[in-house]
Amino acid sequence: MIGEAVKLLLRSRSAIAFTGAGISAESGVPTFRDPNGLWRNHKPEELATPEAFKRNPELVWDFYRWRMELIRKARPNDAHLALAELERMGIIRAVITQNVDDLHREAGTENLIELHGNIFRVKCTSCNYSEDLKKSGRLEEFLKGNGVPKCPNCGSQLRPDVVWFGEPLPKEALEKAFELASKADLVLVIGTSGVVYPAAYIPYIVKERGGRVIEINPKGSGITPIADLFIPLPAGKAMRGILDSIKKTVEGG
Ligand code: APR
Ligand code: ZN
Repeated sequence: MIGEAVKLLLRSRSAIAFTGAGISAESGVPTFRDPNGLWRNHKPEELATPEAFKRNPELVWDFYRWRMELIRKARPNDAHLALAELERMGIIRAVITQNVDDLHREAGTENLIELHGNIFRVKCTSCNYSEDLKKSGRLEEFLKGNGVPKCPNCGSQLRPDVVWFGEPLPKEALEKAFELASKADLVLVIGTSGVVYPAAYIPYIVKERGGRVIEINPKGSGITPIADLFIPLPAGKAMRGILDSIKKTVEGG
């Protein structure tokens, strides 16, 4: 399986990666729908919809502060690091992610499209103020705070800059992702259940254009039926194997 993936990747001319929560599982970030996933222990309709925020913004902020605290302790794992290295080697053109955990950026991925936003960014519910808390250095202050933070520009409520259920995806990111998918000859699908749309269209767009689909997931997903190659392994193990073998091939000639 790893050998086959390496062959397909080295033969490709415009490969991309499409990732979900599973790629960050080995970094200690819970997924959403696995047995111990977030949506098994929390109600998404009470925590991740615009209506929930209107109803009880304190509860939503408590939940996001808890997730931010958990995620900021996490480090990129071998799968994130391998994708960044494959980009530097010119083998992967871009990473399209559903994750809001910033771990691809931390791993060094340059061409990153975040379809569902980023948990370390906030935006105003009224004006167009937004802030990257890591860049502004206010993350600590935010996490120590409680209640609903206010916009320094207009005083309205700030919310996490993530996509909630029932909300449209950021237009620019979605267009860029679809465009990359329509030009890709291979997509590496890592750690997604493939049930949330429109993100889950990405592998189908590549397939429809005659591109190849390689899936890495310990268990099957909504994408598995269209996968040309299915690797039932954890992302860290599979990507470490793929990167090591590609390096040997490239260096060994
Ligand atoms: N390596 C690879 N895949 C893994 C690993 C691992 N170590 N551990 C779990 N997985 C797989 C699971 O088998 C599952 O198919 O990761 C997938 C995680 O699926 P979900 O929890 O549904 O996460 P995701 O597909 O990213 O969810 C999509 O739903 O809740 C919304 O906006 C949120 O972006 C998210 C979207
Ligand atoms: Zn504002």
